[in-house]
Amino acid sequence: MDSILVRGGGELNGVIPIAGAKNACLTLMPATLLSEEPLTLTNAPRLSDIRTMTELLGSLGAEVASLQGGQVLAMSSHNIHNHTADYDIVRKMRASILVLGPMLARDGHAIVSLPGGCAIGARPVDMHLQALEAMGADLELRDGYVHAKARGGRLTGAEFEFSVVSVGATENALLAATLARGTTVLKNAAREPEIVDLAQCLRRMGAQIEGEGTSTITIQGVDRLGGATHPVVTDRIELGTYMLAPAICGGEVECLGGRIDLVGAFCEKLDEAGVSIEETERGLKVKRKNGRVNAVNVTTEPFPGFPTDLQAQMMALLCTANGTSVLEERIFENRFMHAPELIRMGAQIDVHGGHATVTGVEKLKGARVMATDLRASVSLILAAMAAEGETVVSRVYHLDRGYERVEEKLGACGAHIERIAT
Ligand code: EPZ
Repeated sequence: MDSILVRGGGELNGVIPIAGAKNACLTLMPATLLSEEPLTLTNAPRLSDIRTMTELLGSLGAEVASLQGGQVLAMSSHNIHNHTADYDIVRKMRASILVLGPMLARDGHAIVSLPGGCAIGARPVDMHLQALEAMGADLELRDGYVHAKARGGRLTGAEFEFSVVSVGATENALLAATLARGTTVLKNAAREPEIVDLAQCLRRMGAQIEGEGTSTITIQGVDRLGGATHPVVTDRIELGTYMLAPAICGGEVECLGGRIDLVGAFCEKLDEAGVSIEETERGLKVKRKNGRVNAVNVTTEPFPGFPTDLQAQMMALLCTANGTSVLEERIFENRFMHAPELIRMGAQIDVHGGHATVTGVEKLKGARVMATDLRASVSLILAAMAAEGETVVSRVYHLDRGYERVEEKLGACGAHIERIAT
């Protein structure tokens, strides 16, 4: 099992290319099931989660060719011969549930394993199921699987309001609605850039969609969809993560492909903390204004609010801020597991329920720490780069799910970081 060794200290200076968004790619890939024509994604990230989705789609009968080192995914679902998404794959990656809507829309039936919980929370999928039921699906939960059938063989457009803003449930319903008979109106829909990217790709395939990026999305079902070629949107979470690197370590880093509109609320918080962000022709150039950032309070919210997927990384910055910060996690019930690991590095953090109070210290100290989930793992690496001494982050398989070539990208800017077998 690999670990990452980080020798702290020193500024970061250079450029970091930002990849295509994992969370966009994971919802774009199942769209291939909606058409018998080829769907090609460019700017795809090279991540283990993408390989897992490739494995899942392949198990259904789709062909997914990974070209140009994984940056191009040429997919074709001409012959879907299996409509069961197996537990062994689904439990590895929760986003597997996103094949349910497209399979139902394409062939009127599907059997998909329930994903089960994960480290950061129970992660129920009740709203995915409620939305599909509203569109005429009969669902039966049996042996840990959802057995789904579209009444009359085809989904029917419906009006559905999500009780909680859900990225995945919005995506599943959006995918399904494109081929439903009639009009679907999704209310209290998620507004994330990944939803906008999915809608743009589906529109290229011939779908009739309006309102993506707002809380109400309207879809006019069509009888069939064609193929398309679509570039995966820039990964706003990778972008935010690497913007924090110079904020924590000092120096100046240009994030290639970075766009302010993808990280608006996050940039406002960085500005408040004393980090300057300059838009360049190639992306976003970031450096901190003074030696130490200011403490700020953060509350995670659905887009366009501060993203929950950047909460752990922001906490790493605030561990050495001047003053006391309060982070409120409103999306997931257990997303402070990085706190005890940061405390091992000398951070002063008190966690009470959904709030973490961080009292900044001058310097963190290197230690052996353990990654618990994807975003926690990278927050530990950010902290380690600014800490005194050596840090070993274990269980970095979490990291490889969402960040390609971390040690290369940060190493190219002067970080002392290497992968070691432990
Ligand atoms: C997506 O997860 C992302 N994953 C997550 O990123 C991200 O943290 C999350 O959206 C929030 O932005 C992918 O896109 C693959 P939700 P998702 O449905 O869709 C509750 C990462 O690190 N809920 O928006 O699963 C749920 O429990 C990952 O890249 C229900 O109650 O998140 C949570 O409290 C982690 N019932 C809230 O809604 C449902 O049916 C938001 O979850 C669905 C969700």
